[in-house]
Amino acid sequence: MLKQWILDSAYTVIFTGAGMSTESGLPDFRSSRGLWKQKDPSQIASIQALNENVQDFIEFYRTRVLGVKEYKPHRGHYILAKWEDIGIIQSIITQNVDGFHQLAGSKRVAELHGTLQKLHCQSCGKEYSSEEYIKEDYYCKCGGILRPSIVLFGEALPEEAFNFSLRETEKAELFIVLGSSLSVTPANQLPLFAKENGAKLVIVNQEPTALDFYADLVFHDRKIGELLKELDQELDM
Ligand code: APR
Repeated sequence: MLKQWILDSAYTVIFTGAGMSTESGLPDFRSSRGLWKQKDPSQIASIQALNENVQDFIEFYRTRVLGVKEYKPHRGHYILAKWEDIGIIQSIITQNVDGFHQLAGSKRVAELHGTLQKLHCQSCGKEYSSEEYIKEDYYCKCGGILRPSIVLFGEALPEEAFNFSLRETEKAELFIVLGSSLSVTPANQLPLFAKENGAKLVIVNQEPTALDFYADLVFHDRKIGELLKELDQELDM
């Protein structure tokens, strides 16, 4: 059924979460082995943590920067990039900050929560490569502290990425969620918005999500990489 929906859809948008990158070796947040099972996000992934808990903040994010340098996109990322190239899907909205969709060749990607591939100074905004964290250089020339260019809890989403995502969601005839618990706003409003705009909503996630009730099709028993490989073979493009 999903294969036919993909073939019939004139505008397909993919929405990914951390479950898209677990098969690359990166942990997600809320499953049993997730990062938020070991750390309280409000104590580590917030501006308050940056100001009051800077050693823990830097240690946590240096580990994550090392992770996205060590691990790589998996077959599923490359399949999505190929599908964009041949016009099967039109764009990817991702909550992930690993940059793996772009590394696999996807072009029309909105990073709703920013990226770990870049840092910027918390004081003057100057941008740096995340190599600075690898080299354990944590301060800007102005003296300000360097932080990953990701959205911390309590911060606004990047306007351009969010507006692009809204436009893509409005155009979607088919909206496929891959690997997200859909528990963080405002990102988790987009699948609902797609549905309200008449799109078919598909959710692929190994655990129940907050929006399963609204979905037209839900897969809880499939790993994303395997499902994408199977669909790619069926589509035989
Ligand atoms: N195949 C299918 N589903 C998977 C796979 C897989 N290989 N691996 C993990 N999952 C599922 C998990 O069961 C989990 O429900 O992916 C989901 C990931 O959900 P979360 O860990 O909550 O991650 P996400 O939804 O992306 O979190 C959203 O929260 O902490 C913030 O900014 C952070 O972008 C993140 C946001």
